[in-house]
Amino acid sequence: MRRRDCVLVVDFGAQYAQLIARRIRDAKVYSEIVAPSDLKRRIAAGGVIGLVLSGGPKSVYANDAPRIDLTELVGGVPMLGICYGAQLIADQLGGEVRRTGVAEFGRTMLRSVSGSVLLGELPEENIVWMSHNDVITAPPGNAVVTGSTDASPVAAFEDLRNEVYGVQFHPEVVHTERGDEILKRFLFEVCGASPSYTTVSVIDAAVEEIRARVGDERVLCGLSGGVDSAVAAALVHKAVGDKLVCVFVDHGLLRKGEAEAVVRTFRERMGMNLVEVKAADKFLQRLKGVTDPEEKRKAIGETFIRVFEEVARAGLGPDSAQPRLRVSHEREPASQQASLSKGELKEVPRFLVQGTLYPDIVESGTSQSATIKSHHNVGGLPETMDFELIEPLRNLFKDEVRRIGEELGLSEEIVWRQPFPGPGLAVRIIGEVSPERLEILREADAIVLEEIKRAGLYKELWQSFAVLPAIKSVGVMGDERTYAYPVIVRAVKSEDAMTADWARLPYEVLERIATRIINEVEGVNRVAYDISSKPPATIEWE
Ligand code: XMP
Repeated sequence: MRRRDCVLVVDFGAQYAQLIARRIRDAKVYSEIVAPSDLKRRIAAGGVIGLVLSGGPKSVYANDAPRIDLTELVGGVPMLGICYGAQLIADQLGGEVRRTGVAEFGRTMLRSVSGSVLLGELPEENIVWMSHNDVITAPPGNAVVTGSTDASPVAAFEDLRNEVYGVQFHPEVVHTERGDEILKRFLFEVCGASPSYTTVSVIDAAVEEIRARVGDERVLCGLSGGVDSAVAAALVHKAVGDKLVCVFVDHGLLRKGEAEAVVRTFRERMGMNLVEVKAADKFLQRLKGVTDPEEKRKAIGETFIRVFEEVARAGLGPDSAQPRLRVSHEREPASQQASLSKGELKEVPRFLVQGTLYPDIVESGTSQSATIKSHHNVGGLPETMDFELIEPLRNLFKDEVRRIGEELGLSEEIVWRQPFPGPGLAVRIIGEVSPERLEILREADAIVLEEIKRAGLYKELWQSFAVLPAIKSVGVMGDERTYAYPVIVRAVKSEDAMTADWARLPYEVLERIATRIINEVEGVNRVAYDISSKPPATIEWE
């Protein structure tokens, strides 16, 4: 299959690499982020019609500055350097970068020349967003200067013959007034891209690719009830129909009433083959004594895969139109576990679908960005696995996934559900996960959600939930001294979970939540509200 046209964002450790890719996709051109070390391989794979070299925190002169050999690329594929990327171009192609002692941060006035291909018909003076210490003092050999600021004599340059462009400022951030226009000029005028990356085209391409890969094999999909796995399942279902069997593992770490809702929605309403696995005991057993957050995630990820493998080994029947298997890891009479026996094995699925998203992959550590948390569906996978993974959303951002879900006909309730982490409530319980502590958190969380929905705030918040810390504090209820847990309420606004701001919830809503939790949840005598943003905090507490 021909690779679709793609503009690559080479990530030199920029805060904004994701944002650049987003802007490009918003212009309906497909974009991927690639680490410098992967660039050659990705170009060789085909379809690359342009490169954007991102910014980065290093000086081009630093010993450990990330580099690529531009001389090999020049003339072959159009490139646009942004900030560090522009400095790298200048440094390698005959220009000059210096530390002049005058840095530029924030809003800056750019003066541009007329007739520039990249800058188009910008007014002579324009506000752009700057963030740099080093300064380009001479453009690359074949380039002309097309823009400057007080501190940057070469704030924009272009070499038309080789299709090499550079801007010292950041066109991807909203503070650069005509940034969008500049990026679009690069995409359409320079790279010759066509605006054909749409929701329908993404679905069509994914369906075609999944069909070609799967053939007559069986596919297993882990459903969590969240948006990502639901959309992944619906997409694979569209591609391979009844060859897909969805497995819903109730790991006992779900929110109140969630397991029942998942079964109702997918089996009864959407008519998918759904196997429900009740495995709470197994997960809780595995989590006993585990307090380290990363260890918790890995333990859960690994247990997930083992449970899937067990289901697969037990066989899904020759035609899984009807769910014919119920596996239970809870203590049940031996006779009820007979369905796990090898006697039923007819066909073992070869593929496993996961709703991994792009930010999961980027955050789990490309070679340029540090590991922040190993999301269980990426970094937490055990090394030995019996499945080949199908990850149809692996190049998509959350809002793109939601649009695809809508296009596939999923209900609004599912498509607009707030994200919920794969490891569930376990990463919202600090310290050991025990049945008692789970119960406290589950009840408190249900109250938070109920009150947020009642106040009409659910959809405008990225997430809203409760967290149970591992401390207790003194309180007084009636005439009794209490020594009980506090519950922390977390509500954030976000575009894509890469950054988040704490939500300014109305006091009345906070008050209702606090009063209800303290009155209704046994074992809690205090409620606090988390007012940290991401960064420096993360959305989840572990
Ligand atoms: P953090 O806590 O890193 O979370 O700011 C960012 C977003 O990712 C969700 N999250 C997860 N999703 N598996 C998932 O599918 C995970 O292991 C996981 N951990 C965090 C989190 O809820 C937030 O929306």
